[in-house]
Amino acid sequence: MSDSRRDFLKKAVAGTMGLTIGGKILASTARSYRSISGANEVIRVAIIGCNSRGASMAGTFARQPNTEIIYICDVDDVAMQKGIKSVEEVTGKEPESVRDFRKILKDKDLDAVYIATPDHWHAPASILSLKAGKHVYVEKPLSHNPYEGEMLVLAAEKYKRIVQIGTQRRSWPTLTRGIAELKNGVIGKVYMAKTWYANTRGPIGIGKVIPVPSNLDYDLWQGPAPRRPYKDNLIHYNWHWFWNWGTGEALNNGTHEIDVARWGLGLDYPLKVNSVGGRYQFKDDWETPDTQVITFEAPGAVIVWEGRSCNGSYDDNRSRGVIFHGENGSLHTGDNSYMIYDNKNKLVKEVKSDIVISEGLNTTSPGEELDAVHVLNFLENIRNNRKPFADALNGHKSTLWMQLGNISQRVGHTLNIDPSNGHIIGDNEAMKLWSREYENGWEPTV
Ligand SMILES: NC(=O)c1ccc[n+]([C@@H]2O[C@H](COP(=O)([O-])OP(=O)(O)OC[C@H]3O[C@@H](n4cnc5c(N)ncnc54)[C@H](O)[C@@H]3O)[C@@H](O)[C@H]2O)c1
Repeated sequence: MSDSRRDFLKKAVAGTMGLTIGGKILASTARSYRSISGANEVIRVAIIGCNSRGASMAGTFARQPNTEIIYICDVDDVAMQKGIKSVEEVTGKEPESVRDFRKILKDKDLDAVYIATPDHWHAPASILSLKAGKHVYVEKPLSHNPYEGEMLVLAAEKYKRIVQIGTQRRSWPTLTRGIAELKNGVIGKVYMAKTWYANTRGPIGIGKVIPVPSNLDYDLWQGPAPRRPYKDNLIHYNWHWFWNWGTGEALNNGTHEIDVARWGLGLDYPLKVNSVGGRYQFKDDWETPDTQVITFEAPGAVIVWEGRSCNGSYDDNRSRGVIFHGENGSLHTGDNSYMIYDNKNKLVKEVKSDIVISEGLNTTSPGEELDAVHVLNFLENIRNNRKPFADALNGHKSTLWMQLGNISQRVGHTLNIDPSNGHIIGDNEAMKLWSREYENGWEPTV
């Protein structure tokens, strides 16, 4: 982006601040702003990966003021159409569609990319985009493994671009007030966080090797991951449950909960990590645990994450959440809401979300308005050259905690961690999972 354009954008944003007070951006407000004369300078964005989350977020990006989706990229032509439709519904204009996102990175008019590919592409695609001078909003988890997560943190520093991770809770206004109350001592010293996620996912069966559908570039879908035969129970979505591409429920959803727990407790890295669990509910190809309990011992606090992918019984009447326990009581967080209990479990305060969201099991987006707040933060961070709250390092930390949980799960013992940098101490077996094998020629480099 040229300096004069950046200056213009700064001024334009100053003019929109009133729209965002309280973090609330409503689609209708954004739409009406689009028509204000002079608001035609835009941040140009590409959406990379748009089957489900990407298609939803394409619409959310398209609705933001001074923002234009100029490319929709997907290796699957069917998914690509979903992204195009989402943008067209908002703008009435069809963005250019490109299968291989590496081609669009050469376009000087492209300012930023939003990445919602499978997890094995997150860090490699982010690093390529940063090298090409683009700002990056990458979905959680930040990376597939700790090695490439650290590389992405380095790349963000080296290429001096904004990197924001899709842990959108960091931008939720009511939750932010709850965390502030916690930090101001509303329940005294806080020493425990219980976090959980529950869903009712069905079995994925035993996959059959079949010809790759003509609408899909499977080689590019695999990208940095070592090649595996194409099976009929992998694409889309079920890759989450295979270690070659996915990271299991711990990273798929636990990243959100650990992020809130770390935020509330002010923790960077743990001291010890242990995980137990397995694939208990169904017998099929699913490799990651469907039932998992990870315990983290950290300086002055303990955190527990419980994941149940195939059992929808709720704790605290919610499918996911974080409860902080402290000297004088507990603070329960929901989706952009919180409740405070005294030490005898009497409710003393309840603060409901001032944004209406549609939460349920198996949601793509926890609520478009809440996504919009985080998207808008990303765009404003670019305009103001401001470090995001959910920046690369912050995203790496939250991702790493759960990656360490999965490493403990896979080696079957507790890991000792250096709390200054999150590295595993004295454990060659566990360190084999710190990185991954990359397909030849696809290794990320900074
Ligand atoms: N922040 C949130 O709350 C939230 C919610 C849902 C999903 N997500 C994250 O979003 C990501 C996508 O999730 P999903 O459910 O949409 O998965 P999905 O499998 O349904 O979609 C992924 C899409 O990426 C495409 N893709 C693969 N390789 C690509 C490449 N090289 N270039 C362009 N496109 C490529 C696939 O073809 C597919 O269309 C996941 O990492 C997930 O964790 C985040």
